[in-house]
Amino acid sequence: NKLYGIIGYPIGHSMSPLMHNDAFLQLGLNGYYHAFNVREDQLKETIAAFRVLNVSGFNVTIPHKVSIMKYLDEVDVEAKQIGAVNTVVNVDGRLIGYNTDGKGYLKSLLEVIVKPLEESTVLVIGAGGAARGVVSALMNYGVAQLMIANRTDEKATQIKNDYGQKNIEVISFEEAESNIGVFDILINTTSVGMSPNIENIPLSVEKIKQNVVLSDLIYNPLKTRWLQLGEEKGAIIHNGVGMFVEQGALAFQKWTGLNPDTKKMKEIVLKQLG
Ligand code: ATR
Repeated sequence: NKLYGIIGYPIGHSMSPLMHNDAFLQLGLNGYYHAFNVREDQLKETIAAFRVLNVSGFNVTIPHKVSIMKYLDEVDVEAKQIGAVNTVVNVDGRLIGYNTDGKGYLKSLLEVIVKPLEESTVLVIGAGGAARGVVSALMNYGVAQLMIANRTDEKATQIKNDYGQKNIEVISFEEAESNIGVFDILINTTSVGMSPNIENIPLSVEKIKQNVVLSDLIYNPLKTRWLQLGEEKGAIIHNGVGMFVEQGALAFQKWTGLNPDTKKMKEIVLKQLG
């Protein structure tokens, strides 16, 4: 029986064990996935223990996505570019870090958009770890124009500088709101609107154009107030469940070489949330 898991703090609410354990069962694999509650001061010894126990692979979540990197033997280029690891694979005792958040998000977004990304102008709200994953995936895929708005300008500028490409621009929330008509896709990567602060919205969608895609990485609640307001204005809305499922499926694929049934995974997650 191979052991897998997730480390984070607090980890009690994680839906990953249910999702992965069901996938092991479905595919007839001898795997078991456990949620480990690991405080920041316990991270180093936890990774040492995982090596001793020969844990086959694990996910990493808040607050360890950045600090985990120094305990790994190798970090892949995309994870380095993002600056965060959410998936670790044990390859003959070597721990290798990846980031499947960005690609997982992209896979889920591609299911709802109508206009090709290459022709789309995209606004990313936020400039934290989640935003870095989203920007990385969008830039690697190719978008016409990407703009970033963040409460702290410097963090958005840092992302722009990391890519050094002409089609990334940093704008203020005021600029974003007054030019809202230029965007084809608006993505909220911040925690604004997450339970329990469900009344908050990251940006006004009063003047969005019809058929804009409004995408929120949040999945609790499933439909944030922001998505609700957007939907009332005729937007196509997209929540964070797809990203959660796809990042998990990509991690599972890296560990086992097999593709889990993402429809089934999504059902399990929705049942938990519903
Ligand atoms: P994550 O890994 O989820 O992205 P993070 O790296 O802590 O978490 O980033 C949080 C993001 O949400 C940041 O862009 C943050 O803005 P700042 O860079 O200005 O801190 C944004 N954020 C969090 N709370 C916010 C709030 N109340 N209003 C606006 N932005 C907020």
